[in-house]
Amino acid sequence: MGKLDGKIALITGGSHGMGAADAKLFAAEGARVIIGDVLDDEGQALADSIGAEYRRLDVTSESNWTEVVADIDENIGHIDILVNNAGIVAFTPVATTELSEWNRVIEINLTGVFLGIRSVAASMKAAGGGVIVNLSSSAGMMGYSNLSAYVASKWGVRGLTKAAALDLGPDNIRVVSVHPGGIRTPMTAGMEGNEMYASQAIPRIGEPEEVAKLVLYLVADATYSTGTEFIVDGGATVGQALNF
Ligand SMILES: NC(=O)c1ccc[n+]([C@@H]2O[C@H](COP(=O)([O-])OP(=O)(O)OC[C@H]3O[C@@H](n4cnc5c(N)ncnc54)[C@H](O)[C@@H]3O)[C@@H](O)[C@H]2O)c1
Repeated sequence: MGKLDGKIALITGGSHGMGAADAKLFAAEGARVIIGDVLDDEGQALADSIGAEYRRLDVTSESNWTEVVADIDENIGHIDILVNNAGIVAFTPVATTELSEWNRVIEINLTGVFLGIRSVAASMKAAGGGVIVNLSSSAGMMGYSNLSAYVASKWGVRGLTKAAALDLGPDNIRVVSVHPGGIRTPMTAGMEGNEMYASQAIPRIGEPEEVAKLVLYLVADATYSTGTEFIVDGGATVGQALNF
């Protein structure tokens, strides 16, 4: 018996990286998984390999959300789980960040999460409740240099999670945020040996599967948790291990 038998789970940005790890684990635990992404070939191939479905879903598009959620409701069933995982990063100092770059990061990382929450709320309510997991970051717990738009978007996700949890609690919908540190995905390609990992309590990059296990716990077992943060960062946010 799987922990997610009979559950319907939509995972944004699930074509690769952390979203793909969530999709594989959820499918192995019995969920009907729908991967929503803009990387069609990769997403479809992954879906085929794990018995999931793929839908093109640009998280910044209001109409895309409406279409995909209506399609799932009609052809698969009410959505029990949404993982708002899609995200991008931009490495630029605040003083030279272009407005277009700022807007793009906020649009995908924060507005995309808002649209996701809003789009599935009615479907989850009809299912009798549900769980929404929003991927924030250790960058939603503290600041990082050269990442102002990303940091702002991830703090925004953390705050939005709390407000949404209060609004949706009466409908039996839990909303939580997950805060990974550096994780080995296409987003961090080439950064595996970065010196920042050396000063962590666990001095290495994390694996997507380590995040997926936390996300599974949150959707399957964390029945008394909502609106709050769950950190999976090798200790990055607790302080630096230094040799004085
Ligand atoms: N990798 C890390 O170290 C790290 C750390 C903390 C938080 N995060 C966050 O975790 C989430 C997943 O990160 P990842 O490392 O797996 O990233 P990734 O770049 O490896 O994958 C992101 C996925 O999101 C998809 N995506 C991008 N724009 C989209 C859009 N407009 N609509 C739909 N899908 C879109 C991409 O196609 C891709 O499949 C992101 O929100 C990221 O900000 C990552």
